[in-house]
Amino acid sequence: MKKGLFITLEGPDGSGKTTVATLIVEELKKRGFSVVHTREPGGIEIAEQIRKVILDPKNTAMDARTEALLYAASRRQHLVERVFPALKEGKIVLCERFLDSSLAYQGYGRQIGFDDVLKINDFAIEGCFPDLTLFLDIDEEEGLKRIGDRAFKDRLDQESIDFHHRVKQGYEEVLRRFPERIRIVDASRPVEEVLKNCLDIILEAAE
Ligand code: TMP
Repeated sequence: MKKGLFITLEGPDGSGKTTVATLIVEELKKRGFSVVHTREPGGIEIAEQIRKVILDPKNTAMDARTEALLYAASRRQHLVERVFPALKEGKIVLCERFLDSSLAYQGYGRQIGFDDVLKINDFAIEGCFPDLTLFLDIDEEEGLKRIGDRAFKDRLDQESIDFHHRVKQGYEEVLRRFPERIRIVDASRPVEEVLKNCLDIILEAAE
């Protein structure tokens, strides 16, 4: 059924995903590609509603498995409403965060376990793994410094540094398990260099 190209952008908080994704989309459009730029959790109305519940700093009572299920639920709805139709039309879908974020943040950060999180996500994604994942690699402490002056900090931004260290270990496990679809991009460099690196990889995959 899949005809387009499903690309995900991953990395720790503060790795520059939104900035880079916006620039990538501009460049791809200039080259005549039809691109859908979206993000998780969110991207469509129902998933944005779920995002609010997950990230609301007031929801301190939220259980880790509830959190994992809500991310998977928002993922499912977003796939059905946004990603599947765009892929069917042959478009490039560039999605900030996807399955690997759950594996890293819930599997390792929340310590639910990589395979349990993969299992509930199998149900949600029905085999729709990304064709390509760009991992924006940055030291997690550096990333947190970058977002340090954001006025609003969501429930996950407020987590301890130990949590973010575990998330980084989770991403390392993701890289070990899915080496065939993931490319590492050094995100500590100036944005023009990061953009060029990402574009080269995407254009090669889109050929
Ligand atoms: P964002 O700030 O990149 O939009 O993402 C919101 C937060 O949600 C971020 O701290 C990462 C987290 N997250 C998870 O914990 N699991 C997931 O599956 C996804 C998609 C995001």
